[in-house]
Amino acid sequence: MALLELRGVSKHYAQGEVTALEDIHLTVASGWIEGVIGFSGAGKTTLLRCLCRLEKPDAGSVLINGLDLAALEGLALEEARRRIGVVFQSLHLLRSRTVRANVALPLEIVGTPVAEIRDRVSELLDWFGLTEKADAYPSQLSGGQRQRVAIARALSLKPPVLLADEPTSALDPETTASVLNLLRSVRDSFGTTIVLITHELEAVRAICDRVAVLERGRLAEEGSVAEVLAHPQSAAGRRLTQGLR
Ligand SMILES: Nc1ncnc2c1ncn2[C@@H]1O[C@H](COP(=O)(O)OP(=O)(O)OP(=O)(O)O)[C@@H](O)[C@H]1O
Ligand SMILES: [Mg+2]
Repeated sequence: MALLELRGVSKHYAQGEVTALEDIHLTVASGWIEGVIGFSGAGKTTLLRCLCRLEKPDAGSVLINGLDLAALEGLALEEARRRIGVVFQSLHLLRSRTVRANVALPLEIVGTPVAEIRDRVSELLDWFGLTEKADAYPSQLSGGQRQRVAIARALSLKPPVLLADEPTSALDPETTASVLNLLRSVRDSFGTTIVLITHELEAVRAICDRVAVLERGRLAEEGSVAEVLAHPQSAAGRRLTQGLR
């Protein structure tokens, strides 16, 4: 079943002078991990921002379970957004809040009862191996721990969809592997559909089922990871996978 579907999504900046996305069609099935790769400036972050409707596309629809995020406003949009967890490129952890309080934030915002927040946060900290760090501040954590806090927070409302923008770009290879394994366990344990934005082919190869290649705002190709890595059909796909073959 298609859980996420982009239909003809376009996004321009600077009064139309910058084409960040142009007529993107992409379908992600429920429970799959879709990689999105492309060189810097290809439009990956813009795609993520359109997927969670931080950015309103100039054209097209962004369907989640058939509901068009691009067409929603106000309360309906807020509610729909809760179905999408996001880990941003720069994480956006609040420095003045402890790990526990960072993870609790989305629950507080939607008005979850205090006792329920406490239980849900404990459960998440436990699952993500962060219980010992519950009272630490983000500045006291390693890069991998910070990444885990951001993922735990993104999952606090049990969203069916998780978007992650370059979650491993600042990490060493070993920590990268552990964060990627964690994302795969999230999918395996909770059935979460994941869109993983990355410029690292190793990350795609490690956990993605399918991969989309963006080039200057266009979808150059999309296919199974095995197909695209072994036989890229697009110029961008070939350049990105150079050295692998
Ligand atoms: N708010 C903005 N205003 C103007 N131009 C923007 C804005 N955000 C993005 N762009 C432009 O849109 C294009 C796509 O940017 P985007 O951030 O989506 O790329 P990216 O693939 O995520 O790159 P990176 O790998 O460096 O993170 C770029 O040309 C960028 O300069
Ligand atoms: Mg980006």
